[in-house]
Amino acid sequence: MKRFEDKRVLVTGGTRGVGAAIADAFAAEGAAVAVNGRSQQSVDRFLATRWGDFHGIPGAVGPRDACRAVVDAAVAALGGLDVLVANAGVFDELPFEQVTQEDFDRSMTVNLGGVFFCAQAALPALEESKGSIVATASDAGLISYAGAPAYSAAKGGVVSLVRSLAIGFAEVPVRVNCVCPGNVDTDMIREAGEASDDPAAYRAAAASRAPMRRMATPEEVAAAVLYLASDAAGFTTGVALPVDGGGVAGFD
Ligand SMILES: NC(=O)c1ccc[n+]([C@@H]2O[C@H](COP(=O)([O-])OP(=O)(O)OC[C@H]3O[C@@H](n4cnc5c(N)ncnc54)[C@H](O)[C@@H]3O)[C@@H](O)[C@H]2O)c1
Repeated sequence: MKRFEDKRVLVTGGTRGVGAAIADAFAAEGAAVAVNGRSQQSVDRFLATRWGDFHGIPGAVGPRDACRAVVDAAVAALGGLDVLVANAGVFDELPFEQVTQEDFDRSMTVNLGGVFFCAQAALPALEESKGSIVATASDAGLISYAGAPAYSAAKGGVVSLVRSLAIGFAEVPVRVNCVCPGNVDTDMIREAGEASDDPAAYRAAAASRAPMRRMATPEEVAAAVLYLASDAAGFTTGVALPVDGGGVAGFD
């Protein structure tokens, strides 16, 4: 018996990187998976390379109405919902003094609002199924990056939101948890490197920051997400689980 046979899962920002690995892992464990991407094109590109029980749901999550539209479309396509993986996120490394209103709003809207309002829209379906939510936060939500103040603040908000929802919906129960990855080897890190003065040095620094001296793979983050969504974590709620090679454990 596969772990997620007959389960219905929505993954936001699921067309590449960590989200795609999460979508693939759920599908491999028997789930029907609604994969959200920012555009129809990104969703079509993802679906063209998959043969599992996938449903494409285009739409940029963040604003309340957009989240509701994405969740409603997923619930309609899947016939209900057992797991919401609120994964969509955008990274921005900007010195504190240079963060504009637009930069701040973008980070908060996607990284925090996307989790907040997708969870709000998904709750009725999750209450019905006694399902769970797993958000992709970040180690930046636990220990912060000096170079990414808006991102760190938004991810810290996700960790706190997860705890608030976990308590609020514990009795239903709808379990609510998040993973806090350190650097993960995805396009997000590649693009941040390319925006820096020295991409090779950026990548080397990203890998060496963790005591285990490498980045996570998207599949390692997905494995933690599936654990938190599974029956094996049936008494676990309100948890922020680092997947970071020891990064938040302390100094070395
Ligand atoms: N890569 C890392 O080092 C790292 C570390 C910690 C946490 N995270 C978090 O993991 C999650 C996934 O990151 P990734 O590395 O796979 O990034 P990525 O940029 O490779 O993929 C993110 C995906 O989300 C999509 N997306 C962005 N904004 C969206 C929106 N408004 N609506 C729908 N989709 C949207 C992007 O188009 C992309 O497909 C993010 O929340 C990120 O903050 C990443």
